Amino acid sequence: MSCTVVVGAQWGDEGKAKVIDFLCEDAQYIVRYQGGANAGHTVVTNKEKFVFHLIPSGILHPDKVCAIGNGVVLDPEQLIKEMDSLADMGISVQDRLFISGHCHIIMPYHKLFDVYKEQRLKGKKIGTTGRGIGPCYSDKISRNGIRLIDLLSPDFKDILEGLLDEKNFFLKNYYNQPPLDLNEILETYAGYAEKLKPLERNTSYLLNAALKRNEHVLCEGAQGTMLDIDFGTYPYVTSSNSTTGGACTGTGIPPNKITSVYGVMKPYLTRVGEGYFPTELKDNDGTQLQEQGNEVGATTGRARRCGWFDVGLARYAIMINGITDIFLTKLDVLDSFDTVKICTGYEIDGEPVDEISFSRTDLSRVTPVFREFEGWKTSIAKIRSFSELPAKTKVFIHEVQKLLDVPIPYISVGPERESTIKV
Ligand code: GDP
Ligand code: IMO
Ligand code: MG
Repeated sequence: MSCTVVVGAQWGDEGKAKVIDFLCEDAQYIVRYQGGANAGHTVVTNKEKFVFHLIPSGILHPDKVCAIGNGVVLDPEQLIKEMDSLADMGISVQDRLFISGHCHIIMPYHKLFDVYKEQRLKGKKIGTTGRGIGPCYSDKISRNGIRLIDLLSPDFKDILEGLLDEKNFFLKNYYNQPPLDLNEILETYAGYAEKLKPLERNTSYLLNAALKRNEHVLCEGAQGTMLDIDFGTYPYVTSSNSTTGGACTGTGIPPNKITSVYGVMKPYLTRVGEGYFPTELKDNDGTQLQEQGNEVGATTGRARRCGWFDVGLARYAIMINGITDIFLTKLDVLDSFDTVKICTGYEIDGEPVDEISFSRTDLSRVTPVFREFEGWKTSIAKIRSFSELPAKTKVFIHEVQKLLDVPIPYISVGPERESTIKV
């Protein structure tokens, strides 16, 4: 019996999907546990590139069973689109994709509120993906949500009717927008219900039964530690627990069944959307990272902001998530740098900062302290074994491992499946 959680250790887009695609060789089940279609998870196979928003990245392996856990907020329109495009590529999800009936459903008003709220915030916006994530989780917590089992039940009309009054009141009177029509939503969502009904399961039972049979379960995190609603750079975060704890509450797998936690990190940082970013680079180095790393949002197409690796944030991610292994992706992106920097600590007014305070004022006041490494100035993208890496690359990896005090069993040097190297 074993369960591995794969968690983003930064601000998302660390290459989690690639890691899942690699680790799932040894797994039977892969489950998404939080977030929704705000995620963009890219897998590059020998032939094609796939971007998943809701379906676990393990689905490309025909012998794996995939689940969408109760912690996910489910956009039926997006999910059906994703299933259809897999079908077009000859990949069937039948009898191997299951959705928790407890998933909360993204409704049309969630997406509208997400967009209108951002428009109203003007200079203070979060830079959300506009996928309705925050409003849907708000409704879940305030007990105004609609779960998949509600959508599939004969009570759906009554439930929606009871909620829509208030939503339309806000649309009309706060956002000056036209109200939504009950019957139109009922008709559209009846179509979704028909398609999703065969996939509904109590996935907590499904996954715990698999663990009991000694099968291996992989939990696929979305977003990253710094976007976690509790532990991230609030308010510039997403609305779920993207950290390891979310894997328990978002699947029903108990904490004592988790046997390892892979923290996925790039050797630099990126962030999409607004918010604090102490090591952000607004110079040529930032542009170079953005271009070499092809750092463009997989969901929104926005350019990702780039900056140097931050040891303090990485140690924090290791602590919060209980990271047992680090998967260091995208090392090839540093190939052309004369000098690679990593931030080893912060100062405020010349005084070192021991613990990162996530207070709004401190985060905008810290001055990062950097350590420099000589760049290796050669392409490592085609290298397939650790021993063949340039000496300077090995020094860099070893020093990062020493600073973080957690093993780095794997690194990757390209988007393709075969570009993962065992350290
Ligand atoms: P996720 O959200 O964490 O799954 O990551 P994304 O898919 O949003 O972004 C990671 C991007 O980096 C994708 O385009 C991947 O194909 C790509 N990628 C992953 N690993 C590597 C690597 O080692 N080198 C390079 N150059 N690209 C990588
Ligand atoms: P993956 O799983 C990077 C960011 C958004 C915004 C903030 C809140 O691909 O790593 P939301 O729509 O969630 O309310 O937006 O969170 N964000 C991500 N950034 N990767 C992601 O997912 C993200 N999902 C949300 O850009 O700043
Ligand atoms: Mg992504």
